[in-house]
Amino acid sequence: MRAIVCTRYGPPEVLRLADVRKPAPKDDEVLVRVRATTVSAADCEIRRFDFAPWIWLPLRLALGVFRPRRRVLGQEFAGDVEGVGSAVTSFAPGDRVFGTTGLGLGAHAEYVCVREDPATGAMAPMPAGVDYAEAAAIPYGGGEALGFLRKAGVGGGQRILVNGAGGSFGTFAVQLAKILGAHVTAVDGAGKLEMLRGLGADVVVDYAREDVTARHETWDVIFDIVRGTRSDRMVRRLAESGWLVMANPGFMQMARAWSASRGTRKRWSIAGVGGTKEDLVYLAGLVEDGRLHAVIDRRYPLEQMAEAHRYAETGAKLGNIVVTVA
Ligand SMILES: NC(=O)c1ccc[n+]([C@@H]2O[C@H](COP(=O)([O-])OP(=O)(O)OC[C@H]3O[C@@H](n4cnc5c(N)ncnc54)[C@H](OP(=O)(O)O)[C@@H]3O)[C@@H](O)[C@H]2O)c1
Repeated sequence: MRAIVCTRYGPPEVLRLADVRKPAPKDDEVLVRVRATTVSAADCEIRRFDFAPWIWLPLRLALGVFRPRRRVLGQEFAGDVEGVGSAVTSFAPGDRVFGTTGLGLGAHAEYVCVREDPATGAMAPMPAGVDYAEAAAIPYGGGEALGFLRKAGVGGGQRILVNGAGGSFGTFAVQLAKILGAHVTAVDGAGKLEMLRGLGADVVVDYAREDVTARHETWDVIFDIVRGTRSDRMVRRLAESGWLVMANPGFMQMARAWSASRGTRKRWSIAGVGGTKEDLVYLAGLVEDGRLHAVIDRRYPLEQMAEAHRYAETGAKLGNIVVTVA
């Protein structure tokens, strides 16, 4: 089968199209014919191996010390079940599915094997009425955003700030927070603000023109997707008992959040518990009802994977980048 292989950590040029052995499903695995996949910020971080020092070692051990252990990267997919292992009961050949492989990776290929109940990632029937491209762009950003919002208990009438709202995570966080009944302030670059208004954000802020933490306002939940922000300033802008959830914090961000929240009822967290099969089924329902959609900026064919990575790293990306697999 055709796949994009990554044999060393580095710039987009380390990626190349190759013929590799088609995987065969184990007893508890489903063989998926991938029709669409994505390139996310996390895919680029894995390719470059660019992680905060506190998670550098555990991730290096998990992903490969000297070179990537899983040569085929990619976490999101939508496609058709082509075969199932003997112990699989909830999927059958011909099913249209979407999901994430988590740190198992492997989605940047024509076929991927996914455990019926994976340790990381999840898989569920694809929402009706959308194509493979849109379905592929939902599980990672949608699942993780849902997990973070649930962890922080986002609900009706709450005020939520999403910092870094224009990417994969943020575009889903804004939509889901609105669906949950929150008032949403979305922060990102000027070129993304109109799109964020279109997703339902009540207030949009251009981070190049204004430091939102200097506002005399408080939020019940601050969802910070940006690496390197001043988390102590974010904590100060939290309402009493508010939550700061950080998607990608460095050590100093965590230390500042800890220090600024000490002795208060404000809380902070670095991880959600999203992206389960139940989450994907819930997200699929919202998509089918027309209440949620994936923002897709560009689509590339599999052969142009390196180009897709380059674009993902420009910062211009609106929402998601989809890679179609013919
Ligand atoms: N903890 C977890 O469980 C978990 C799970 C999944 C992913 N993650 C991590 O979450 C991170 C974000 O993921 P993503 O896919 O949503 O990334 P993304 O698509 O790149 O979105 C990030 C957004 O933040 C904007 N931004 C950059 N600097 C900013 C600033 N100073 N203020 C406000 N906005 C700013 C970016 O715009 P510009 O670049 O144009 O400025 C971009 O629109 C990744 O690092 C990923 O590894 C964490």
